[in-house]
Amino acid sequence: MSTAASPVELRSHVGGAWVEGAGGTLLDHEPARPAELVASGRLLDAAEVDAAVVAAAAAASAWRATSIHARAAVLDRTADVLTGRLEALAVELTREQGKTLAESRAEVGRAIRLLRYNAALADASDGDGYASPRTGERIFTVRVPLGPTAIVTPWNVPIAIPVWKIAPALLYGNTVVWKPARLVPLLALRLMEAFAEAGLPAGVCNLVFANAAAGDALLAHPEIRACSFTGSTDVGRHLIARGAEHGVRVQAEMGGKNAAIVLADADFDHAVEQVASGAMLSTGQRCTATSRVLVERPLFERFAEALAARSARFRVGDPLDPSTEIGPLVSEERRRAVLDAYATARAQGATVLVGGGQLDVDGDGGHYVEPTVVVDVKPDDTVFVDEIFGPLAAVVPFDDLEEAFALANRGRYGLSGAIFTRDLGRAMGAVDAFDVGVLHVNSETCGADPHVPFGGVKDSGSFMREMGTAARDFYTESRTVYLRVPDAAPSSFAIASNRGG
Ligand code: UN1
Repeated sequence: MSTAASPVELRSHVGGAWVEGAGGTLLDHEPARPAELVASGRLLDAAEVDAAVVAAAAAASAWRATSIHARAAVLDRTADVLTGRLEALAVELTREQGKTLAESRAEVGRAIRLLRYNAALADASDGDGYASPRTGERIFTVRVPLGPTAIVTPWNVPIAIPVWKIAPALLYGNTVVWKPARLVPLLALRLMEAFAEAGLPAGVCNLVFANAAAGDALLAHPEIRACSFTGSTDVGRHLIARGAEHGVRVQAEMGGKNAAIVLADADFDHAVEQVASGAMLSTGQRCTATSRVLVERPLFERFAEALAARSARFRVGDPLDPSTEIGPLVSEERRRAVLDAYATARAQGATVLVGGGQLDVDGDGGHYVEPTVVVDVKPDDTVFVDEIFGPLAAVVPFDDLEEAFALANRGRYGLSGAIFTRDLGRAMGAVDAFDVGVLHVNSETCGADPHVPFGGVKDSGSFMREMGTAARDFYTESRTVYLRVPDAAPSSFAIASNRGG
């Protein structure tokens, strides 16, 4: 399928102006057809990134003074703009990132739902009230914005993750400097265009195409008050340390090595289907993807074989073809890393039940790999411990639940987990024993709803959650107000209401 069209011109957005950038070249290639350029432009240099922070700081007081309902209206209008363009955006997302059209439509739809959800929160309570032990006094808390916020987003979810961070940041009155991953600048440009069309004032959200050093510079900038990041654990830990050094609040979503535990009493076909989706869809490029499958021994061989057979049935191919279920990996560098992981698993003794190699789908050089299921894996093997970020499931047997949880909790990560069982007691046991931020009972490890807190434990996340009401806690601080009006209390009312006291 040819997609040839002239590449879109990329522009950063600083202080309300579209800026070409004086830094290096930024080329956005199609993962399915690497010879094709989807978009191109230039990065900002360090001085231009600095100017974006200055713009965000300059816009902060007017935005903070804008009513939360007026801020919410901008988010609603942004949702309207995206809704009108959903199909075109889905095609562009698929072209630049490589996920299938169905996955891209779902992602743009999710971005729209996140905008609507956040807009509706304008009507929610913004604090608590307390009784005072003193007459003529009331005590209450209000939430106040933090100020200019750095948002650093990954390449695997190019529009929904930015929205789930930026929408609450803006709703609660903060201004934003947003650095998207360099592999997915086109959807970033499209989201920024939608904000601008929706009437977001100049400087309130600034889009900076920049290299990795800009992340450091943002955290060291005296105007930046907070940073929300999704990406690798190494970068996240680094940003958390930088934040601590500079007094910047950092919320980070990082790696995962998510386990699904399948008990012998589980609904077998359902568990196979869910585990296969969790491990293989989105080409395994989700921090919530299932990569370790722990199966109760009596079921082990049958389950591993069924998972392998199901995985082999996925149609891997051109993500623009509506019948495709799994697209390419995002880049050749990522494909090399995933193929290395397959090779390392074999070298450490794993048996490959299905897959294990790369694929040439149509001669266009796309970064395709085969969905892969391996067995004969030991708990210290790289494939059991390291995040791979590709369509790879390691299936391992266990004898009792204690062993299952010990295996599942092994290692540095703790993002999501799944347990498949019909036994309510054993499912309930997992709530306490499974050391993860998000636990699924009888569903795959992926997924996150806009109104629900999301995030991981251990090296998968900082202690703060995002989305749902957790976002308000991150993007605001609480201010406690003791309001005393010595001569205002209508004493007759006070006496009447205190009668008998
Ligand atoms: C999901 O499972 O849809 O980068 C949420 C990621 C996660 C979000 C995934 N931060 O894959």
